[in-house]
Amino acid sequence: MKTLLFFLIFLHLLGTSSTVYKQWIPNTNFENASNWDRGQVPCAKDVVLFGRSEVVSVFVQSPHTLTEMHIPLNGEFIMAPGAAFTAFDGNQDPGCETGSEVTFASTGNYQWYDPTLWHAASSLENLERGKYTFSVDEERVPCQYDDVLFQPETSFRVDIESSEQMIQLRSISIMGQKFTSDDTLSEYMQRPSAKLQFQGQATFRLSNARCPDKTGCECGNTADHHRICAALLQSSENQCPVPTCKDPLRPIGHCCEICGAIVSLDYSAGFDMELYQARIVHTFLSLSKNAGIQMAMSKVHKPQTFLGIGSRSTVPFIQIVLIDNGTGVQIGTRAEQLAKDIMSDVAEHGESFGIVTGHLQSATGSNWSAQGAGSSVGAAVAGPVLGLLLVLLILGIVLLLYRKGALRSIPSISFSSLWKRKEDPESFQDTSDKGFENPMFDTPSNPAALAGACSVEETPMEKPSKSSRLYYINPLYDETELNA
Ligand SMILES: *[C@@H]1O[C@H](CO)[C@@H](O)[C@H](O)[C@H]1NC(C)=O
Repeated sequence: MKTLLFFLIFLHLLGTSSTVYKQWIPNTNFENASNWDRGQVPCAKDVVLFGRSEVVSVFVQSPHTLTEMHIPLNGEFIMAPGAAFTAFDGNQDPGCETGSEVTFASTGNYQWYDPTLWHAASSLENLERGKYTFSVDEERVPCQYDDVLFQPETSFRVDIESSEQMIQLRSISIMGQKFTSDDTLSEYMQRPSAKLQFQGQATFRLSNARCPDKTGCECGNTADHHRICAALLQSSENQCPVPTCKDPLRPIGHCCEICGAIVSLDYSAGFDMELYQARIVHTFLSLSKNAGIQMAMSKVHKPQTFLGIGSRSTVPFIQIVLIDNGTGVQIGTRAEQLAKDIMSDVAEHGESFGIVTGHLQSATGSNWSAQGAGSSVGAAVAGPVLGLLLVLLILGIVLLLYRKGALRSIPSISFSSLWKRKEDPESFQDTSDKGFENPMFDTPSNPAALAGACSVEETPMEKPSKSSRLYYINPLYDETELNA
């Protein structure tokens, strides 16, 4: 209880809350130099051109003197107090000796679902300070319980075309006005300004509510995954950058493969997303050795077509994506280490946080164990226990048969011949003598290290032993692996 209280206080201090703010980046402001083809705001001798058919809303912050301006048929200027356009009267304008044609170049084809056009932060303060959060691509655009911000004193134009024809949000702020109800927003959306700002068929639904489920809420952008990834990769012809690690990982909700680690957690009703997130931040991410590691934690569903299993309904789980700033062979190694630390923590304290099992995958620039380095608390526990039971059962039967004399009558076919195939001749003798040993006894207690168990078996240092053979044939272990 004390720890719980501590974390709640900590949570408060951190300013962490389930609320996420997403701020639209581009603007169509007159004073924004990057909105002009010359990369410079027009000056007095310039002739200003807006495309005839361009549909724009342009915010003008200050007074401008211009020689000539061609305005679009369908558009608006939003003039801040004090802003104005005046005709050039022939007086010198320092820095504007030669006039030229300047074209407003804001393409206007910015999409709502483009992850590169949003900043995400856990508080308004963080947003202001540029402390943005890292997340999978689907969650870089506004999620269903997010607060969306279009900065005050900025004009914009965004294409809100959506697969579901509807965009769910907690609230939306436009030009300094915050909307929290569908009624007031739909009123606003009827205005000519809104028609210039928002293009496309979708409508907004505002809940004005936080995620009601303390185990977390899904972002809700899965239906637009393709749209999101197409927008993200439009400048690279739909090509993801090639990851520089072996067997890179594909986090759910992300467009491209990554190097690093993914921890997947099955949770129970007692799980509290915020609390657990705070624990990871406090216990691990804040350590100096973990500086430069980025974490994205979210509730996700396995894609429905996962492994072709079809429409079998899937249970949501918690996905923790970890990436680091390592390069070359170092890439992903620190993320992997952190993931292992988290797995140990799950093994030790997971239950008190409502975590049932954990599963680790990693891909780094260096290691080989990255391939299929999956392990789970479930397997780690179930493996040895079931293995032990199996061995005890076999031993029991052997003992029973032996006592009853049954075994003696079956001359030495026994178990040794069963093992013979995979064995060097000298060691099989002692196999039959000493009976069986549970291979799992030697398994390191750290569940994350279990992944290495498979490779141990292949290392030349390890003489072929009974353990490795038994490990091979243990069908129960494999089964748990599959299910994990
Ligand atoms: C200017 O506009 C560009 C593109 O719309 C945007 O990325 C940038 O943040 C804007 N700069 C300012 C200072 O508003």
